Amino acid sequence: MKASGLRGRGGAGFPTGMKWGFIPQGDDKPHYLVVNADEAEPGTCKDIPLMMASPHTLLEGIVISSYAIRANLAFIYVRGEVLHVIRRLQNAVKEAYRAGHLGADIHGSGYHLDVVVHAGAGAYICGEETALLDSLEGRRGQPRLRPPFPAVAGLYACPTVINNVESIASVPSIVTNGADWFSSMGTEKSKGMTLYSLSGHVQRPGQYEAPLGITLRQLLDLAGGVREGHELKFWTPGGSSTPLLTAEHLDVPLDYESVGAAGSMLGTKALQIFDDTTCVVRAVARWTEFYKHESCGKCTPCREGTWWLVQTLDRLEHGQGTEADLELLIDLCDNIVGRSFCALADGAAAPITSSIEFFRDEYLAHLRGGGCPFDREASTLFSTAGASA
Ligand SMILES: Cc1cc2nc3c(=O)[nH]c(=O)nc-3n(C[C@H](O)[C@H](O)[C@H](O)COP(=O)(O)O)c2cc1C
Ligand code: SF4
Repeated sequence: MKASGLRGRGGAGFPTGMKWGFIPQGDDKPHYLVVNADEAEPGTCKDIPLMMASPHTLLEGIVISSYAIRANLAFIYVRGEVLHVIRRLQNAVKEAYRAGHLGADIHGSGYHLDVVVHAGAGAYICGEETALLDSLEGRRGQPRLRPPFPAVAGLYACPTVINNVESIASVPSIVTNGADWFSSMGTEKSKGMTLYSLSGHVQRPGQYEAPLGITLRQLLDLAGGVREGHELKFWTPGGSSTPLLTAEHLDVPLDYESVGAAGSMLGTKALQIFDDTTCVVRAVARWTEFYKHESCGKCTPCREGTWWLVQTLDRLEHGQGTEADLELLIDLCDNIVGRSFCALADGAAAPITSSIEFFRDEYLAHLRGGGCPFDREASTLFSTAGASA
C-alpha cells in the first residue's frame, strides 16, 4: 500500500500505507479498522453512491486492510440518514458471511474477521475521526485531544486505523493490479485515480473517475459543461469547507499540491459548480448556517465564532450592514482559524474569507442596494413578464 502511493480520500490526503504502518506490531491488544462512511459535508457525495453501487468492493477492501493491520473486528460507521445505504451494507455483510469471506477461519486461512455496520445519528462532527470513535463507543460525538493518536489509542483505547470509504474501496484493485499500476496514474505526489463529484450548475452532474491531476476544465468537458447559456462563477474543489475558486482556476491540476498552491484544498474532490445566476453571499451564508448548526460546542472560538459569523453574514445578505462588517468577518475568521479544537471551524471560515477575496464588490452591492441584487433582478424579470402577459 505504501508503494502504491494511495492517499486518504476523506479530505486530508494522508498516505494510507503510512497510517497502517503506525499500528504497533507484536502488542497484545486488539486492533480495529473503522471505515468512515459518515459523509455529511455539503457537496460531498461520493461514498454514498460508491456503497450503493458496489458494497462488496468496500467489504473486500475491509477484509484485506484488516488482515494487513491484524484486526479481527471492523466497523463501518455510516451516516444514519441514509437508510437505503445501511440496508445495502447490511445485506452485503450477510452475503459475505454466507460466502465464507467473513467470520471464523476465512476460507481455511486461520484468520477471522467480523464486520459491524453502525448507523450514526446524523451529526456532521461525527465524521471527524476522533469524534466518530467517541460516538462509536456510545458517548456524545466530540473530538478527542491528540496525542495519543488513534493508531496508538483509538477505539476502546486500542490501536485503530480509521479510513474513508473510498480509501478502503481502492485497496482491492491495488492488490489485484499492483502498486505500479496504481502509481502509474496521477501526479508525482498524488497517485492514482479517484472520484470527482460534480454537482450544481453542470449539464451532467455525477461521479467522474479520473486520475488525480485532471483539471476542472477537462472534467466539465466530460460533464457537458456549465448549464447552457451561463458562465462559471465560482466552485469548490473539495466541498464547502475548502476555499472557493473561480473561472481563473479552471486549469489548476486537481491534485493535493496544485490545489494547495492555488490557495485552496483538494479535500473530498466535491466540485460544486455555481454559475452567474448564484448570489455568492447567499451561498456562503447558507453554508455558514450549516457549520454553526453542526458546531459541537466543545471549544469557544467555534461555538461562539460561528454564531457571530451567521449574524454578520445575515446583516450583509439583507443589505443592513456596513462596509466595516466585511473587516469584522475577516477578523472573526482570523480568531477562529488555527485557534479551534478541530478542523470544522477552519472549514467554516474557508468560504467566507475566499468569497470576500474574490467577490468583495458583490458584498458591497448588497449594502448599496439594501438587499440582494439577484433578488432585484429576479423581481424586475417577473414584473416585466407580468406586464407583457
Ligand atoms: C468536521 C469534520 C468532518 C469530517 N467528515 C468526514 C467524513 O464524513 N468522512 C471521512 O472519511 N472523513 C471525514 N473527515 C476526515 C476524518 O477526520 C479523517 O481524516 C478521515 O476519515 C481519514 O480517512 P482517510 O485517511 O482515508 O482520508 C472529517 C473531518 C472533520 C474535521
Ligand atoms: S472546532 Fe467546533 S466542532 Fe470542533 S471541537 Fe471546537 S466546537 Fe467542536
